[in-house]
Formats: sequence, structure tokens, C-alpha cells
Amino acid sequence: MSVTDVFDAVAGTYDEARRRLIPCFDAFYGTAVQVAAPPLRAALAAGRTPEVLDLGAGTGLLSLLLSAAVPGVRLTLVDGAPAMLARATDQLDARSVPHRTVHADLADDLPPGRYDAVVSALAIHHLDDAGKRALYRRAAAALAPGGVFVNAEQVAGPTPELDRRYDEVWLKRITELGASPDEIAASRERMRHDRPATVADQCRWLAEAGLVDVDCYFKEWRFAVFGGRAG
Ligand SMILES: C[S@@+](CC[C@H](N)C(=O)[O-])C[C@H]1O[C@@H](n2cnc3c(N)ncnc32)[C@H](O)[C@@H]1O
Repeated sequence: MSVTDVFDAVAGTYDEARRRLIPCFDAFYGTAVQVAAPPLRAALAAGRTPEVLDLGAGTGLLSLLLSAAVPGVRLTLVDGAPAMLARATDQLDARSVPHRTVHADLADDLPPGRYDAVVSALAIHHLDDAGKRALYRRAAAALAPGGVFVNAEQVAGPTPELDRRYDEVWLKRITELGASPDEIAASRERMRHDRPATVADQCRWLAEAGLVDVDCYFKEWRFAVFGGRAG
């Protein structure tokens, strides 16, 4: 089963489980929204419709939060899982948020356009490191002047010992939050497709892709939000 098949199979229950499986949910997604919002507000102030590209958008969780924080944005959601995208469409339609969905692999060319923000959450860690670097280059090239890239991501620990601690802390927290043994087992099964990289490596790849002011804006164990802006 491919990673996108795995997510398609859980599209109906995906949203409901998120807060249990991401202990720092509000700060994690909230920081990504904070990072992406300024160029979107600037576009609105200049009389333009802000364009957002969401990579591995899934059911539209980050897109929905962004469109609530900055009403008036237009979203392009890319994902390889059609059932996840169908759920995103339902949720965005219900809120009358202008958007299009693109069923594609993250290794493919990005949908043409100049974006004020290219955003992603918990998706790029499914690519191998060469795939991540190539995607970061394409994302940087797709930014409008002043645009930002932000990735809210599951990351690897800088050492095997820290990576083990990340997992230990995560397991303890999600158990406290009420994740059931079945839910944890299913999550572990999906995680077999994970290829996380460290924050340090990914920030370096973003700088190599031409972004400036590259930084990690939030980190709590394995959950980190990092990005930069168009040079
Ligand atoms: C954990 S979900 C995250 C969804 C959403 N961004 C969120 O924050 O809830 C990962 C998403 O990435 C998509 N994905 C993973 N690898 C992909 C690839 N190579 N091409 C396209 N989509 C991919 C999956 O289909 C899934 O919808």
C-alpha cells in the first residue's frame, strides 16, 4: 500500500483523531498560520487576492485554519490521496472558501502560479531526503516576491538517542490524551512510511533553495515549524 492509499483509507476519521495524535496541535498549526499570514494580509491590502499553495493538504486542515485567519485567500491544495482531497473540498465549500484541488504527487511539478504563501503540514516527511530538497527548490521558485514558505512538520531527532526520546515523549502524551491502543497501532502502521529529517538539515536545504530569514519558529520534541521567505 502506498502512503497516499494509507491516508485515503482513513480519510473519514482523520480529522477527529488529530488533537489526540498531535499533543501541541494549537501551537503547531497556529505558528504555521502566524508565519504565513503577513504576505497574505499584504496582498489583500494591495487589492490582490492572496494565493496559497498547500502541499500534501490532506483533508484541508491547515488550509481551513489559514482561510479562517485571513479571509479572502484563494487556495490550491495538492495531494496524492483523492478521498482526503474530497473531504477538503466538502469542508472548504461549506465555508465558501475559494479553492481548487490538484490530485498529484509531491514529486511532480507544482501547479503553475506565483504564490504568496506555500505551506505544508505533516506531509513532506513522506519523501526521501532528495525528494524533500527538490520540493523545497520548487516551492521557493513558486513564491511571489515577499512570499513565505512554511512547513509544520514531524522531524527526526539530531541523534538516535534524541529520536528515541521524541518517540517516548510522544507515546506518553498521546496516551494521556486518550489515544486507544488500536489508534496508536494504526498510527504506528502509517508511520512506517515516514522518512523524517532533522530541523537543521531542512533549514539548510531551504537556505540552499534561495530562501532568506530561514528559521525554526516552533519546536516541541518531534513537532517543528520552520520556513523562510523569498529572497
Ligand atoms: C499526515 S497527512 C497531513 C494532511 C494535512 N496537511 C494535515 O496537516 O492534516 C499527510 C498527507 O500527505 C499526503 N502525501 C504523502 N506523500 C505524498 C506524495 N508523495 N504526494 C502527494 N501527497 C502525499 C497524504 O496523502 C496525506 O494526505
